[in-house]
Amino acid sequence: MIESSDLRMTRIPLNHGAGHMPALGFGTLIPDAAVTITATRDALEAGFRHFDCAERYGNEREVGRALQAGLAAGGITREDIFVTTKLWNSNHRPERVEPAFEASLDRLGLKYLDLYLIHTPFAFQPGDEQDPRDQNGNVIYDHDVTLLDTWRAMESLMDHGKCGAIGLSDISLNELKPIYESARIKPAVVQVEAHPYLPETELLEFCKEKDVVFLAFAPLGHGIRPGPLEDPVISAIAARVGKTPAQVLLAWAVQRGTALLTTPRTAARARENFDIAALPEDAFDEINRIQTRQRLNEVVKTGIPGFIPQARMKMKAKPQLEQSMQEEQIRTALDTHWHASAVGDADLEHDIYDDDAICDYPQSGERILGRRNLQALRSHHPGKPSGFKIRRILGNGNLWITEYIITYQGRLAYTVSIMEFRNGKVVHETQYFGDPFEAPAWRRQWVQQIA
Ligand SMILES: NC(=O)c1ccc[n+]([C@@H]2O[C@H](COP(=O)([O-])OP(=O)(O)OC[C@H]3O[C@@H](n4cnc5c(N)ncnc54)[C@H](OP(=O)(O)O)[C@@H]3O)[C@@H](O)[C@H]2O)c1
Repeated sequence: MIESSDLRMTRIPLNHGAGHMPALGFGTLIPDAAVTITATRDALEAGFRHFDCAERYGNEREVGRALQAGLAAGGITREDIFVTTKLWNSNHRPERVEPAFEASLDRLGLKYLDLYLIHTPFAFQPGDEQDPRDQNGNVIYDHDVTLLDTWRAMESLMDHGKCGAIGLSDISLNELKPIYESARIKPAVVQVEAHPYLPETELLEFCKEKDVVFLAFAPLGHGIRPGPLEDPVISAIAARVGKTPAQVLLAWAVQRGTALLTTPRTAARARENFDIAALPEDAFDEINRIQTRQRLNEVVKTGIPGFIPQARMKMKAKPQLEQSMQEEQIRTALDTHWHASAVGDADLEHDIYDDDAICDYPQSGERILGRRNLQALRSHHPGKPSGFKIRRILGNGNLWITEYIITYQGRLAYTVSIMEFRNGKVVHETQYFGDPFEAPAWRRQWVQQIA
């Protein structure tokens, strides 16, 4: 447990190079370009000096612009900030590593990086398509490159003085150990999901023993509710120590010796998340005793991101085939729709529907007619569905099926949505839930019965 009178200033030494990582990090996984700029600026103003980016987030330019503006405003130099970005899965082939690194650097408008991470241990088909899929909608993996091959290329970046440190992300202890053993330059940082529901104690012990910085993402459980932010132990401690649940979770993470990444999107949240203070030892121990276990992001199992701002994904044109172009558009529209559902962006979510779309829930006998009623129902929903996890999206032509898991009415529900498209918009959707649900009375004003 780290003892410090001012947790906010905690800096953790890196095992190669002379650098230190500020423990409190700001994550830039933000779907909206304008919000990326304001949130990064607000984080810098609140005191954050550690910025976590990724090629895959599609917003390195915006983060770079906000950082440049902050540096130009004076008072902060490039040496005061710590910037990380990540190599995406489709660039694992050794010959693609340096160009990917240089492209990120260029987008960020920086001359050097403090840390470069392999985003996930999964290699996807090499190329500029970040999300390569086969005809069934399954990711195309690249089996002709190993993680060690990619790591060797990362070591070369270090040899050429291109970045301060290198590391891995979304990796399990079993995958880390052989890389650690074979590495000429040992990983300096491991970035993984961690919070009281997923403490990753064994991995943390390994990291401490080997002087690898453990960098926790989702310290607030991705903000998903119910989740660590609403845990009764956390709420009780927050009330006791006069801090917010978010501040308690972030303090706990730093006190147990990890660095962290959090994503406040407003200036007030940035100030709140930076304003942490050490917890009393009994509170710290109480959090360690929380028994709930939950992984929120499945990226570690597949390399497929759980929380990517899909709305910003660039569409790859295939002009030679009009039909496949349309399918690609539908696929992108679906990604945008489900991501917007997950983050509760009702306008973006409903962009996909035709004005006269019909939505059926055969298990409850409900039918919703028209986009406006769909939108009204969703924005009046009392306990909004949360924790969207897309299992897969399948389809072609005009018929598309999405399987996903949500927390609905407080329970996890396996759900299938079948959508029929016409002219690029949904004209008919049918949704099935794992458990048949009974329609609550408040829905009736927007709902009719299926004839
Ligand atoms: N390596 C990987 O594969 C990977 C995966 C995911 C994330 N990351 C990195 O980790 C960063 C952190 O993301 P995260 O989702 O894990 O962060 P997080 O801080 O656990 O969750 C962010 C969510 O918490 C909410 N939130 C933020 N501050 C709050 C507060 N004070 N009180 C209540 N709610 C609050 C935000 O709500 P609002 O929606 O209201 O803003 C947002 O939805 C990312 O930006 C990214 O850099 C890496």
